[in-house]
Amino acid sequence: MNIGRVIELQLQRHGDARGSLVALEGMSEQIPFEVKRVYYIYDTTPGTIRGKHAHKELKQVLICISGACTIECELPNGGKVSHRLDWPDKGLLIEGLVWREMKDFSKDAVLLVLASEHYDEADYIRDYNQFKKECVK
Ligand code: TYD
Repeated sequence: MNIGRVIELQLQRHGDARGSLVALEGMSEQIPFEVKRVYYIYDTTPGTIRGKHAHKELKQVLICISGACTIECELPNGGKVSHRLDWPDKGLLIEGLVWREMKDFSKDAVLLVLASEHYDEADYIRDYNQFKKECVK
């Protein structure tokens, strides 16, 4: 259970004189799961912090396709990492038991999330103390 990892992804950009295109495919090197759900966060209230939870099993890739936001993660070993997602070809893979907070959203931020499972509240750990207990199991 106490496995979690966070990997920054440089997504492949197909660019030419017309502009840029990023294509994402499930079960690929960069998206190592079948994508069962897509959601996006936008129009965030200034100063808001979202997330504040971990997942037991879910795998996700986060991409800020417009604007910028910061993803702060705490790993099962207590290590903390912070990633600024500020370009549409930058992604963040989060797998397993990782406490995450999303903050410092720019006004135009649209945070796209690809997820490995359908929405399931039972997969959430929303209590930080419970997260810390799960980390030492
Ligand atoms: P919430 O977990 O608070 O979002 P965040 O991770 O950004 O803090 O979710 C907000 C609401 O949206 C909550 O009522 C649950 C609902 N929701 C869904 O119905 N499906 C989903 O896939 C997600 C991620 C949330």
